[in-house]
Amino acid sequence: MQPAVVQLHNVSVQLGPVLALSDVHLTINPGERVAFVGANGSGKSTLLRTLHGLLRPTQGQVQLHPTCRQAMLFQRSHVLRLSALHNVALGIWLDRAQGHSWAQSRARAVTALQRVGLSAVAQQSGRQLSSGQQQRLALARAWGRQPDVLLLDEPTASLDPYAKREVEALMAAFADQAETTATLLWASHNLGQVKRLASRVIYLEAGHILADLPVADFFNAQLLETTSPAAHAFVQGELS
Ligand SMILES: Nc1ncnc2c1ncn2[C@@H]1O[C@H](COP(=O)(O)OP(=O)(O)OP(=O)(O)O)[C@@H](O)[C@H]1O
Ligand SMILES: [Mg+2]
Repeated sequence: MQPAVVQLHNVSVQLGPVLALSDVHLTINPGERVAFVGANGSGKSTLLRTLHGLLRPTQGQVQLHPTCRQAMLFQRSHVLRLSALHNVALGIWLDRAQGHSWAQSRARAVTALQRVGLSAVAQQSGRQLSSGQQQRLALARAWGRQPDVLLLDEPTASLDPYAKREVEALMAAFADQAETTATLLWASHNLGQVKRLASRVIYLEAGHILADLPVADFFNAQLLETTSPAAHAFVQGELS
């Protein structure tokens, strides 16, 4: 069996007065597509940031695979006042672990923009793109770094249905390119999307993991009601 891409052991994260994560145990294996769901403030973003190594736990340990490359797309993506092409190229070039020259970074950026369907606007300012295009740009920037693990924080939250489907298709394409090794971790309020894309669903409430199930079990209402009444109530609330 391949080693885990990331593991959390007894992890708690205190942010100011808030215990945003509380005693979390979690193992993410290569090839998994894990969706994090839960109400606003339940700790999804905090968990993603912790898994990405951005937040240091107040207690417990984060064990990152030494050679797995991660890239994260944040809840609010920062598009720079540069062309779309330079936004992506800079992201790749600044990833010093890869050590690409500017010319190599630029060439990879061209490919990444092509992949997300933004070649036609490569020379336009990133800031002038629509929000759907900006989200695809952020995805190109993350994917262009050729990560093994892609973390996305509500990647389709503010998009119209068409743009949502486009970004969703790109997430699936990332996961499908190397089915057994590409790992997708994302936070979502969109249960339809979770059903379509996830292999495993983790439900959070007030910083606790209250359900961690294969996708089919999570959406089996009868089963969920017995294994995790809190998650069941959440799903019913979201679906109603
Ligand atoms: N920088 C911070 N300082 C203090 N508290 C914070 C900080 N960031 C987050 N929190 C708190 O930590 C808890 C978890 O927040 P988090 O952003 O992880 O939730 P979330 O599940 O991503 O919510 P949403 O669905 O709204 O994005 C919340 O109570 C939030 O108010
Ligand atoms: Mg969040």
